[in-house]
Amino acid sequence: MTFPVLGPGRDQQSIQEQLEAMRINDVSWRDGRAFTLAYSAGQDVLDVAQDAYQRFANENALNTDAFPSLRKMANDVVNTVLGWTHAPDTGAGFMTSGGTESLLLAVRAARQRRRRQDKRQTDLNIVLPTSAHAAFEKACSYFEVTSRRVDVSPDWRADSLAMSNAIDDGTILLIASAPQYPQGVIDPVSEIAQLAHNSQINCHVDACMGGVTLTYLEQLGNDISPWDFRVEGVTSISVDLHKYGYTSKGAGVLVHRSKELRNDQTFVTDNWLGGAYGSSGILGTKSGGPIASAWAVMHYLGDNGYERVTASARSTALAIANHIDKHPSLVLLAQPEATLLSFASNDERLDIFTLADNLRRRGWYLDRQSPPPSLHLTVNAIHNNVMTLFLQHLDEAVTESMSGADATQGGSQGAYGTID
Ligand SMILES: Cc1ncc(COP(=O)(O)O)c(C=O)c1O
Repeated sequence: MTFPVLGPGRDQQSIQEQLEAMRINDVSWRDGRAFTLAYSAGQDVLDVAQDAYQRFANENALNTDAFPSLRKMANDVVNTVLGWTHAPDTGAGFMTSGGTESLLLAVRAARQRRRRQDKRQTDLNIVLPTSAHAAFEKACSYFEVTSRRVDVSPDWRADSLAMSNAIDDGTILLIASAPQYPQGVIDPVSEIAQLAHNSQINCHVDACMGGVTLTYLEQLGNDISPWDFRVEGVTSISVDLHKYGYTSKGAGVLVHRSKELRNDQTFVTDNWLGGAYGSSGILGTKSGGPIASAWAVMHYLGDNGYERVTASARSTALAIANHIDKHPSLVLLAQPEATLLSFASNDERLDIFTLADNLRRRGWYLDRQSPPPSLHLTVNAIHNNVMTLFLQHLDEAVTESMSGADATQGGSQGAYGTID
């Protein structure tokens, strides 16, 4: 194979045309066709996000001495999230590039805390339910910590008793999710945090998906299972803004109960010829775009805007869940506690991944997951506009999948991430 050379430079218009041509087969998420990966609360919000992003895209948030604007925006964003999560006055956090970086840093912080307190122990582990996000496996792999996965209860929530039995002297961290991704239910955070508190170890709540939604559902008067710093024993929480905060990609926040605990996430060295180097996260150089975008969208939507878009996503999720629950060939895995839900086939003639293929042919993109083989929907504000059409296509696609050649073939399972 010969690799292509760039060749001579080109004019901007031809480049723009080619960029648009290349995206022709991308899923139409702006029209609500993707129940995963991308979020929209409407064109006006996207415009605000994009404008702010582009203004700061080439500013570097590595060193905010040079860009006090970015420091101010990031502090404002983190302080808002500290408020959302009911952090005590000692609470402190940093922006991250999203959920994965937040989870990596939560694991690193727990490991640093143990090292700070006890340098002897080397075989370290974290205890987490099988439902906790895959990024925790990545963290364990990066930081050489053992992942002790514990089966969830029949209602898909973490089994705190089984988790307690898995804790030993090497355990540095317990995980709860609000909600967990695969079935959209909230783990018993209070029980898990209590275990962590008793063992004097960290308890991280992964609210990457639910941090914004649960905050505003509560403000709207809903009863929400406890998940934030009001629960004793919770030491850190991750909240993604590039999900239900409706900001541009590359924006999450990791908040800690105290600055001391936050110090366990940061890295400082002067062991090179360039002087003191400090870094709050995994990245070095990082674009100011996501920070500016987060700041702008949060102030554009405000509390009333977030209440509106949260209520819209929630009512759409409930309506879709209700439709699936009544469908004779589908089974809803759990009643959604936020805006995520998943469903499986109830009929041996229906292969759930064939159904996903047939929905894809109709322009809908759903996540495929297992075990058990099921389809997953991340319902957000934009889906209110397309819900009726989606449910009609869902019914049609089920019928199609159960008849004809498709019925016996089996669709492809797909994968959540990318490795090439
Ligand atoms: C519960 C939960 N945590 C963490 C993540 C990882 O977030 P990101 O893809 O932004 O790294 C996700 C992603 O969907 C998630 O659902």
